[in-house]
Amino acid sequence: MSENFEPNVVAFLCNWCSYAGADLAGTSRIEYPPNLNVIRVMCSGRVNPMFVVNALQQGADGVLVSGCHPGDCHYMEGNFLARRRFALMRELLNFVGVDERRFNMSWVSASEGAKWKDVVTGVVNNLQEAGPFTEFPRKKIDW
Ligand code: FES
Repeated sequence: MSENFEPNVVAFLCNWCSYAGADLAGTSRIEYPPNLNVIRVMCSGRVNPMFVVNALQQGADGVLVSGCHPGDCHYMEGNFLARRRFALMRELLNFVGVDERRFNMSWVSASEGAKWKDVVTGVVNNLQEAGPFTEFPRKKIDW
């Protein structure tokens, strides 16, 4: 797919680590692709798999879930639950024919602004290769 394609990415970021890491990237003036629609959640464990399906159904070309590093979750084990839940989710998406590049997870701490840039750049590059989401019908929402 063309590099001119600009994917819509819905990003669920945990308040305590990844959101703060993204914020640090911004305050440090680190440039990264502007393709994200950020949704701040209290923990990656709060992200219901249906949020991912709904995002894809409503116009996202890809989804990113990002939280604290394993062992650093503010709620002790939320990210362990998320990791297990989304490993299954990825297999399920694969099973129904959704390109696995459309679902991404990462662990980014509040001090990793530079890593945040790398994660977002990687996600956007992969989605540019994958192209627009066409795997199942959806209702388009005006972003
Ligand atoms: Fe960040 Fe749980 S608080 S992943």
